[in-house]
Amino acid sequence: MGRTILVTGGAGFIGSNFVLQRIAAGDRVVNLDKLTYAGNLGNLVSIKDHPEHIFVHGGIEDAGLVHELLLAHCPDAIVNFAAESHVDRSIVTPEEFIFTNVVGTFRLLHESLAYYRALPSADQARFRFLHVSTDEVYGSLSKDDPAFTEASAYEPNSPYSASKASSDHLVRAYRHTYGLPTLTTNCSNNYGPYQFPEKLIPLVILNALNGKPLPIYGDGLNVRDWLYVGDHCEAIALVLEKGAVGETYNIGGDSEKTNIDVVTTICAIMDEVRPTNAPHNRLITFVKDRPGHDRRYAVDASKIKQQLGWSQRESFTSGIRLTVEWYLSNPAWIKEVTTGDYRKWITANYESRGAK
Ligand code: NAD
Ligand code: DAU
Repeated sequence: MGRTILVTGGAGFIGSNFVLQRIAAGDRVVNLDKLTYAGNLGNLVSIKDHPEHIFVHGGIEDAGLVHELLLAHCPDAIVNFAAESHVDRSIVTPEEFIFTNVVGTFRLLHESLAYYRALPSADQARFRFLHVSTDEVYGSLSKDDPAFTEASAYEPNSPYSASKASSDHLVRAYRHTYGLPTLTTNCSNNYGPYQFPEKLIPLVILNALNGKPLPIYGDGLNVRDWLYVGDHCEAIALVLEKGAVGETYNIGGDSEKTNIDVVTTICAIMDEVRPTNAPHNRLITFVKDRPGHDRRYAVDASKIKQQLGWSQRESFTSGIRLTVEWYLSNPAWIKEVTTGDYRKWITANYESRGAK
């Protein structure tokens, strides 16, 4: 029999991919999501009427609701994806990030602890709280620095990464002080189906499709380590199953790319699958940089590989092609997410930015 997992933020990009994977694997999922601009039930249409998927509309900061859900569904595990996740938005509206990522995670932890303490000892032994975090908590690397390991110091640079770092510290404190059986994962940049098109890869795919400028911040030489979302979700499931309580695991794609490389790769695929009169890279436009823009992220994932046997299935070459194909095959999903609110954000973020 599968487990019952309380997934928070399961209508967002990574959360919905995880929920779809776990339902396919035979788990029961209680999905708590506030449905902010980034949450979308359209990601979950394929399991809309599935008896093992219970969707609950609400926030992780609602302690009363979390308490009720834990008592009603008795989960074996909680996986916390719920967060404000976009760095550019954290620069404009940081308070929302503090509220959900810090206060929300704190309340979720506190209710989880009360629930955990009341469990019979056999259920306590099985229970896990897995917190999904980011490589951005480690700050920025120079060109020749070694990749982040689990022992790297926390040096967050944006309101987003500072709020995620704070939540990681709270998770650590709940383990250390109260003995809550926690696990933390710190992952690099994800891409793949259902990513909201405010993030680089889906934004560039959609703009290329519509003949719009492809905005590159600064000189385009910032480096990210890209991981296909399905591989991230499998890693999380493995950590939940086999991870040592109290440990943190870095997850990465071994796939460092400059932003300009990522964008020209997408342009080349678009030239092949949706040829136009002129190559898509004519649309590349350098724009004013993101304030405090971290130069480089790279993740050393040897711990999860060696200790838990994880490995990724998709290379960047295969994953980016799958991703472009997914966006081209899902015009109804795109139409639904690129509504008024989305257009407002795009106008606010790019029109005020101007040329580099
Ligand atoms: P996302 O923005 O696509 O989705 C976030 C989801 O959380 C949405 O469904 C939203 O409605 C929900 N949510 C927001 N506030 C909530 C609240 N108070 N209560 C309940 N639900 C709430 O984010 P994502 O890219 O899927 O990221 C998921 C998690 O993974 C985040 O914690 C993020 O920090 C982390 N992460 C993301 C990446 C990445 O590349 N996207 C990489 C590493 C780690
Ligand atoms: O590293 C993990 C993190 O990756 C996650 O924790 C975050 O939730 C996730 O949003 C992502 O953060 P980034 O800031 O790296 O992702 P984003 O897609 O916003 O940007 C990727 C790179 O592309 C970054 O260097 C900024 C740049 N960029 C982004 C946008 C939206 C551009 O050059 N132009 C753009 O229009």
